Amino acid sequence: MESSGRRAAAPGRGPRVLVVGGGIAGLGAAHKLCGHPAFPQPHVLEATARAGGRIRSEHNFGGVVELGAHWIHGPSQGNPVFQLAAKYGLLREQDLSEENQLMDTGGHVGLPSVSYASSGESVSLELVAEMGNLFYSLLDQTRDFLHAAQAPVPSVGEYLKREISRRVAGWTEDEESKKLKLAILNSFFNVECCVSGTHSMDTVALLPFGEYTVLPGLDCTFPGGYQGLTDHIMASLPKDTVAFNKPVKTIHWNGSFPEAESGDTFPVLVECEDGGCFPAHHVIVTVPLGFLKEHLDTFFEPPLPDEKAQAIRKIGFGTNNKIFLEFEEPFWEPDCQHIQVVWEDTSPLEDVTPELQDAWFKKLIGFLVLPSSGSVHILCGFIAGLESEFMETLSDEEVLRCLTQVLRRATGNPQLPAPKSVLRSCWHSAPYTRGSYSYVAVGSAGDDIDLLARPLPVDGKEAQGWNVSHQVWDGAKNTAARAPPALWPHQPWHPTDPSPLLQLQVLFAGEATHRTYYSTTHGALLSGWREADRLLALQGPQVHLPGPRL
Ligand SMILES: Cc1cc2nc3c(=O)[nH]c(=O)nc-3n(C[C@H](O)[C@H](O)[C@H](O)COP(=O)(O)OP(=O)(O)OC[C@H]3O[C@@H](n4cnc5c(N)ncnc54)[C@H](O)[C@@H]3O)c2cc1C
Ligand SMILES: *[C@@H]1O[C@H](CO)[C@@H](O)[C@H](O)[C@H]1NC(C)=O
Repeated sequence: MESSGRRAAAPGRGPRVLVVGGGIAGLGAAHKLCGHPAFPQPHVLEATARAGGRIRSEHNFGGVVELGAHWIHGPSQGNPVFQLAAKYGLLREQDLSEENQLMDTGGHVGLPSVSYASSGESVSLELVAEMGNLFYSLLDQTRDFLHAAQAPVPSVGEYLKREISRRVAGWTEDEESKKLKLAILNSFFNVECCVSGTHSMDTVALLPFGEYTVLPGLDCTFPGGYQGLTDHIMASLPKDTVAFNKPVKTIHWNGSFPEAESGDTFPVLVECEDGGCFPAHHVIVTVPLGFLKEHLDTFFEPPLPDEKAQAIRKIGFGTNNKIFLEFEEPFWEPDCQHIQVVWEDTSPLEDVTPELQDAWFKKLIGFLVLPSSGSVHILCGFIAGLESEFMETLSDEEVLRCLTQVLRRATGNPQLPAPKSVLRSCWHSAPYTRGSYSYVAVGSAGDDIDLLARPLPVDGKEAQGWNVSHQVWDGAKNTAARAPPALWPHQPWHPTDPSPLLQLQVLFAGEATHRTYYSTTHGALLSGWREADRLLALQGPQVHLPGPRL
């Protein structure tokens, strides 16, 4: 067992803070704390060998490709990811323009440049636009239910299907044309499954769906890779802040853990898979919800309060993956940005569950054409749900062979040259992620997100067994008499309550803890800042003043 806490702050240097997870939420929290004299040296424990988490740029596949986050959603003044990226000089000139920042896309994916039916015919873009407009106008309607007392149906999917059935009754074309329209609509359902990171829109709750907030701005990408952002945050942290290959196994909280080296006693002990143990006053947990779901029974000791554990079980976390195909020569037109594939035998109104082996690729929404750089020509396919998880179990060769067939069929060109290489994300099998991002599932609501975000101990009661005199941290002197900030305004502060050092033992950040921006990088970053601020507030207002270190 390695000497505990050697990496952490020296005694007398303020409360010891550990951050679990080095994605943008964890790095953001550490960065914010580092700027304040009360928390000179927070440390980050990251399970893998790299920082960035679900922000992951790959530079060895043609140009740069994003295995995780792709766009800044809503790049405008209110988006901290946009602000930081602009500050670091990571964006294109046009993406900084006032005009782009004011653009309101409603958060919808744009229409395709070309649409192929599975029989090899092109589909009229007019018809695609008509179906796209229908689909997105119905999707926008779902937002109206946010403040409704009751939902007409539990899920977004059921609502969309019900409305579509009503429309279909009024369609006057021949059966063939109606079938095509439904197949196009099905393709938009598949797009929305990617956006929500879910298997089916039937699992996405209707009432709270409108709580997700879309910021203005025309979504933009990072020409040099999204990871430039997290790399910059990393570089601004003191050296050795992040420890890599340090998967945390169990967070022991509500305890009394003495540290021989310093003579201090700590309420929390973070135990790593390699046996390393790190005592701390505060731990900010930023691991993905997928990881929390899988390890709920062993990750916290004592176990989480029941309502928090329930929130973790109820909030949705599904899979969206990308498949990159590199071609020798483009088979698409130079101005083509987005290729849609419509499977003619599908309809959102029919519940068929074909064997994954035979039909997984029908969940693929088509391909984005990545901006070409010189001789590099790359398509990026998106696929969500169980089909996406099945895809992860196949070999690269099988995926390449299958998608070559799909493209040959769709373009009606049996001679279409196969891509020269393939690269895909496998977020569901990633042991420290277990999926892509969160959504508000049927049976859960925005309140569950807030419950997940609530720090432990919930009301300070769990810490009552504590003897405050154990504390030898200088800064803790007289803290028991100092009024804390109004984190729980309904609870009066008594001098006999546990010291601030025993409050906020375990804090929760990460994409899934942001009630209105969940599933995004800006939601994740803001959640990390939120928890850093919560700790800063606990220290009282004086730490915000510039001054010597404690
Ligand atoms: C395919 C895909 C596409 C996306 N596209 C977009 C997009 O276009 N725009 C957008 O805004 N967002 C997008 N997102 C979402 C965005 O990437 C995430 O919301 C955000 O990066 C999450 O940040 P985080 O810090 O909360 O979590 P993460 O980045 O997942 O960081 C958590 C970290 O915790 C580590 N960890 C896990 N378990 C342990 C443990 N036991 N001990 C120690 N460390 C542990 C993980 O290794 C990871 O580094 C996409 C995500 C995916 C997967
Ligand atoms: C925390 O510890 C106190 C005192 O030992 C105990 O009474 C309380 O039940 C514990 N809380 C939890 C959640 O285990």
